[in-house]
Amino acid sequence: MYQPIGHKVEKMFSGIALKYDFLNHLLSFGLDFLWRKALVNKVKKIKPRTVLDLATGSGDVAFSLRKSLDSSIPILAQDFCEPMLEQARIKQRSFPQQGPLKFEFGDCMDLTLEDTSFDAITISFGVRNFENRVQGFREMHRVLDNDGSLFILEFSQPYQWFKPIYFIYLKYILPTIAGLITKDKEAYKYLAGTIESFPTKESLSEQLREAGFQKISTKSLTFSTVVIHQASKH
Ligand SMILES: C[S@@+](CC[C@H](N)C(=O)[O-])C[C@H]1O[C@@H](n2cnc3c(N)ncnc32)[C@H](O)[C@@H]1O
Repeated sequence: MYQPIGHKVEKMFSGIALKYDFLNHLLSFGLDFLWRKALVNKVKKIKPRTVLDLATGSGDVAFSLRKSLDSSIPILAQDFCEPMLEQARIKQRSFPQQGPLKFEFGDCMDLTLEDTSFDAITISFGVRNFENRVQGFREMHRVLDNDGSLFILEFSQPYQWFKPIYFIYLKYILPTIAGLITKDKEAYKYLAGTIESFPTKESLSEQLREAGFQKISTKSLTFSTVVIHQASKH
């Protein structure tokens, strides 16, 4: 039976939700904390009044934003996978209240949010799994305020010299470790495949331009295995 890609992605994240955080920190050697911090520092610089974190998963970017931004700034965090959102809500119970932070269902392909309603949108390790990336970018462009900015944290293509070591790790080591812990090696093989086939930062910038974004800049982290794209609505 035909199942849209979004449905398969949602099902896959449902299956690994309980172990997601632990594996994230383990498989990235703890670097994911630094990558998210770099993202949040960029957001802080534009002094947003309203923030939307898309594909929030278990909420680590949303919590990091909440800690760094003024308590008067509301943060809305959305994902289409309820078990991932449930992990975020569990963490929220032990998170000190530092201002409004709401986790709710939302599909990036079809956001049920008003036009021009946020001045910063973040998405970390989410766009790689989109059914239609340009459509997702168009939705983000629509809900961004006219002076707003989009911040994408995502895997990218590493420097040439680092590729052999990196792809051996991605193809063989990562799925084996993750498979032992989650009993779902296929999910991590799929995720590793999406990292390997993900566009370069130049191609991703082109897709952002296609969706209407302008003034696109990039910052490479950890041998360019991860890149932050920042883009303005106008
Ligand atoms: C790798 S996790 C990243 C979670 C979190 N942002 C982080 O940095 O840890 C990817 C998340 O994207 C979500 N996702 C993928 N496609 C989506 C879509 N079309 N709409 C909403 N969420 C989506 C998945 O459910 C999953 O929780």
